[in-house]
Amino acid sequence: MRKLVAGNWKMNGTSAALAELQAILRAHPAPGVDILVCPPATLLFQASQMAAGRAPDIGAQDCHPAASGAHTGDISAQMVADTGAVAVILGHSERRETYKETNDLVRDKAAAAHASGLVAIICIGETLAERDADQTLQVIGAQLAGSVPNGATAANTVIAYEPVWAIGTGKIPSLEQIGEVHDFIRENLTARFGSDMAGARILYGGSVKPTNAAEIFAVPNVDGALVGGASLREADFTPIINALEGAV
Ligand code: PGA
Repeated sequence: MRKLVAGNWKMNGTSAALAELQAILRAHPAPGVDILVCPPATLLFQASQMAAGRAPDIGAQDCHPAASGAHTGDISAQMVADTGAVAVILGHSERRETYKETNDLVRDKAAAAHASGLVAIICIGETLAERDADQTLQVIGAQLAGSVPNGATAANTVIAYEPVWAIGTGKIPSLEQIGEVHDFIRENLTARFGSDMAGARILYGGSVKPTNAAEIFAVPNVDGALVGGASLREADFTPIINALEGAV
């Protein structure tokens, strides 16, 4: 699989922000890595139209596990796919925290994403308290077991390791700590899915910046990044994309 840089705009951006997407399109006419931009749901359709047939791909930030029904305010995987988006971020720690999303719910959302032909980017990561209590790998193992549905393949699933304490804080784990978790995720996926998940992309996320991207991408089993704050401006996002291209 090609390496991947995904940008998570979170709840940022009205239609004026599409100028940044346009700038990304211009800056990367033939990228050597996959690029994904995940704007808010309100921009999915316009963004998909703008990027159609070119890099980057467009993704959503969440979907509901059901296909349709009485779920006020929610969006189904089928609706996401209908905008032209090809992927969806699921189980982000902000949703796990704010909306108490469980591993079971994330797994059901991922299965719905797969059924609609979307790539599920499943986020996992430990809190600082869990890391300090030496529970990181145990937590990661439980999240993988609970959040990744049967039927996951390297083509339809991406795992994003995002330590909760590194998101939006400017703090990142040491490169050794990142490597330990990514190796663990790789072994866990291989043990459960065998060749189906061989080569699946495992992204690191949490305070990835132009200044630290290259060293993170040099860590074995880091296949790219899920980028929040530094994905909002093309000027910050481009050096991260370039760093991954340099690491290929
Ligand atoms: P950050 O966010 O890059 O702003 O730390 C990452 C994320 O939440 O995906």
